[in-house]
Amino acid sequence: MSLRKRIVSGMRPTGALHLGNYHGALANWIAMQDNYDCFFFIADWHALTSDYEDAGGVLEFSRRMLIDWLSAGLSPEKSTLFVQSHVKAHAELFLLLSMITPLPWLERNPTYKEQMDALREKDLSTFGFLGYPVLQAADIIIYKAEGVPVGIDQAPHIEITREIARRFNHLYGKVFPEPATILTETAKILGIDRRKMSKSYNNAIYLSDPPESIRTRVSQMITDPQRARKTDPGDPEVCNVYTFHRIYSPASAVAAISQDCRSARIGCVECKKQMAENLIQALEPIREKHRYYNDHPKVVEEIIAAGDVKAAEVAKATLREVRAAMKL
Ligand code: TRP
Ligand code: SF4
Repeated sequence: MSLRKRIVSGMRPTGALHLGNYHGALANWIAMQDNYDCFFFIADWHALTSDYEDAGGVLEFSRRMLIDWLSAGLSPEKSTLFVQSHVKAHAELFLLLSMITPLPWLERNPTYKEQMDALREKDLSTFGFLGYPVLQAADIIIYKAEGVPVGIDQAPHIEITREIARRFNHLYGKVFPEPATILTETAKILGIDRRKMSKSYNNAIYLSDPPESIRTRVSQMITDPQRARKTDPGDPEVCNVYTFHRIYSPASAVAAISQDCRSARIGCVECKKQMAENLIQALEPIREKHRYYNDHPKVVEEIIAAGDVKAAEVAKATLREVRAAMKL
């Protein structure tokens, strides 16, 4: 038994991960591996709640995301990495929890309404989509997690999870801890068009992008919008390129760029070139592991198979307790 606190988190399989995903979630997970008993999984059933028409894409998206997880530094030695749909006990607990979850809790869930609005082109008036937070609650409490690292957008779901756990404990006796939300800071970097970095905006730089694509993408980045000519002084504080420099360039270079931008001694083209090279260098170890895992699909399969087994053991033990508590 581990004495470290257990945390659980999942990601819907969106395919290759971009730097926004990395700085917004994955880097945080990687950092937590040494201090927590971590269960991280690919939420492929959750992907179906909105993408059920394209169910066939989920498998390939999961594979790509998993390779990015491993390449970026999630480690099967430190964490339990698995696929939601491989651990069928999630589905049984989801069913049992659905019996005790009042409909109004789901109907008033803010993300439910927002997503319905945001994804108008999809028909989301389904049972599965409304039940999204119940499945998420099952994902979390089946491991008796004490914490859930997520972005602020997921906070309402973790709140519903606590409510469901409390209701279960009240009805049948205490089985579940109420998990805390461990808020992840949102990524500071933006997409190349200065909007939130997102696959659907086509403004992203991906973890596994080859150097040539990174150079092109960086050269297309919008800088300080007030700086029209090279002779105009710029303001690095409002420039997304500068934000990247802060993460990927050495401190001395960052200080120099800040000064030279303000005094118009450096042009944006040159500034971007420097940043692109530093970014390319920083991502090289990830690209290298990416090549390895891509060439060794068996290794990836074995990692997941081992994680599935570890997760299933814990999940099955919880379900035995659940059935006993409910006298089933
Ligand atoms: N809903 C989460 C998201 O879209 C993914 C998710 C599914 C999750 N189950 C979870 C996150 C359990 C944390 C814990 O990002
Ligand atoms: Fe941004 Fe660099 Fe241009 Fe300044 S010089 S506006 S920091 S890209």
